[in-house]
Amino acid sequence: MSRAKKLRVAVVFGGRSAEHEISILSARFVVESLDRDRFEPVLVGIDKHGRWLAQEESLLLGQARDPRLVRLSQAAPAVQLSPYPASGEKSGIDEASDGALATTSTATLDVAGRGPLGVDVVFPVLHGPMGEDGTVQGLLTLADVPFVGSGVLGSAVGMDKDVMKRLLRDAGLPIVPFLSVSAARWKRAREAVLGEIADLGPQKTMFVKPANLGSSVGVSKATGRQEIEQAIEVAFGFDDKVVVEPGVVGLRELECAVLGGDEPIASRVGEIRVTHPDGFYSYAAKYVDEHGATTLVPAEISAEEEERVQRLSLATFEALSCHGLARVDFFRAADGTIYVNEVNTMPGFTAISMYPKLFEASGIGAKALVSRLVDLALERGERRKKLKTSY
Ligand SMILES: Nc1ncnc2c1ncn2[C@@H]1O[C@H](COP(=O)(O)OP(=O)(O)O)[C@@H](O)[C@H]1O
Ligand SMILES: [Mg+2]
Repeated sequence: MSRAKKLRVAVVFGGRSAEHEISILSARFVVESLDRDRFEPVLVGIDKHGRWLAQEESLLLGQARDPRLVRLSQAAPAVQLSPYPASGEKSGIDEASDGALATTSTATLDVAGRGPLGVDVVFPVLHGPMGEDGTVQGLLTLADVPFVGSGVLGSAVGMDKDVMKRLLRDAGLPIVPFLSVSAARWKRAREAVLGEIADLGPQKTMFVKPANLGSSVGVSKATGRQEIEQAIEVAFGFDDKVVVEPGVVGLRELECAVLGGDEPIASRVGEIRVTHPDGFYSYAAKYVDEHGATTLVPAEISAEEEERVQRLSLATFEALSCHGLARVDFFRAADGTIYVNEVNTMPGFTAISMYPKLFEASGIGAKALVSRLVDLALERGERRKKLKTSY
């Protein structure tokens, strides 16, 4: 590798979702963990309006660790991604003696006032809608540039709790029974919907969630008709599709990290213990109250149970067309039943996040983890290039 040119990795972060600030902290950790012998980062921040702005590394690395204090630098040159190789500039590995990574840049970042910069691979460290949901993945796919993480389909499916649960159910994976309701149907047939919610099971307490969101935004715990109706109205404030499911009794929350492409591996299993008065892993418990929740790595479960969670994680990864990385979240009921709750296709990647912590506990440190993720993106890019496009 010594004489090979470094691969230029565009790290894209921020974004338009409620997880903008967490994304900045995730990007900071990814950039800190990037192997500088192999990769050269270029930083692109997406502000809350969706503008792409070149960011300085020193500013990113100097950010406070508190999500309430992090900021993108706004007085920054605009960046545009174009699906053409940068003219006059050759990036990528010049002499790939082993042939493994014989890649050259395909896309270009045009930085206002600085000119074009060839990019070999993009690491979209974006969480939530407009970043983790297939939108940015679509742009990168059109630009023909390899990128880290799930593609358009896997990202979109992972973001939509309704479609995700249908696919998991179809794959025979254990999920909590649920009802998905469109805003139109809620308006048209409220009584019928409330009847179907009552039919979900004997549980009186329901969880109501916007279908396409994350970070517990718009999620409520509701007991009784009136609270359930209110919770549904709240959730419809965030999305026009809502998912309702019975509360799991004696809940424990387990998480498992997955890494890979065709042959993914699962990490050790971790646990989230919620202590927040909200009584569930709410937005406040996740991000506002420092003492809202603690994490336990590894989780205090039996070896058999851990193995089961790992197997279910890999099956989930496959059933949902994930690629590169995902964190699969589980519910464990008091009677020991394990349910797949959801997948996060670009999980939190900060210094204190579960995803890197779980792999650290499994013997894969952050630097190796980030290198592997970039390599997986390049491998997929190479494979896609070989697909026939005419017939
Ligand atoms: N069926 C359920 N039973 C018990 N708690 C739940 C249930 N659904 C959600 N919760 C609680 O709400 C939190 C957020 O729900 P989740 O489906 O993970 O949405 P998000 O994508 O916003 O994280 C969970 O981590 C859990 O604490
Ligand atoms: Mg969750």
